[in-house]
Amino acid sequence: MSLHEGMNSQKPHSVRKAVISDAEQISALYKRVWDEYDTQFPKELKESRQPSEDLMRQWMKQETYFVAVLKDSIAGVVGCRLMHGTCQLTHMAVDKAHRGEGIGASLTERAIEFTKENGMMKVWLDTAPFMKEAISLYERYGFTKCGYMRKHFWGLDMEFYELVLT
Ligand SMILES: CC(C)(COP(=O)(O)OP(=O)(O)OC[C@H]1O[C@@H](n2cnc3c(N)ncnc32)[C@H](O)[C@@H]1OP(=O)(O)O)[C@@H](O)C(=O)NCCC(=O)NCCS
Repeated sequence: MSLHEGMNSQKPHSVRKAVISDAEQISALYKRVWDEYDTQFPKELKESRQPSEDLMRQWMKQETYFVAVLKDSIAGVVGCRLMHGTCQLTHMAVDKAHRGEGIGASLTERAIEFTKENGMMKVWLDTAPFMKEAISLYERYGFTKCGYMRKHFWGLDMEFYELVLT
């Protein structure tokens, strides 16, 4: 049994690879989640994380997305971008109504598993220093801070986290 299946077996949500027909729900989820950051994110950053349904379809052709499904609705999503022997975690988001239920953990586990399945050497991501819930989530899985970029996204400082697997 994989780590992902084992940890998920008691949970009411399931994680699966996203399909193109999920684009509408994923786009709506990103809109809701990043609207929460209206005052904390520069406008350009917030908008760049809120793809239209069409743009979401394009993103899904370029990288692999996993969704957490709860009662037939998408409650969480994460992207996995494979490049130069690594997997970049992108656009992790869980619906506010379902935070603290283990969905972010399940998505992180699936992303790590996907990285291993593809023979990549590490998983990495960027996040803003004030995103404490996200940082705690990644640290729980052994990610460590590996970089800090000043004024990296429209003036916002960003931190980088990595989990080296091999
Ligand atoms: C960060 C986020 C994805 C976590 O998702 P979640 O489903 O609520 O997380 P889980 O319930 O699976 O919790 C997993 C771990 O995350 C951390 N975490 C989650 N909520 C937290 C909170 N309110 N405070 C501190 N740590 C928290 C903890 O380490 C937790 O492990 P624990 O339960 O053993 O303490 C979610 O809060 C979210 O979507 N936030 C807004 C968008 C965002 O920050 N995206 C990430 C961008 S890099």
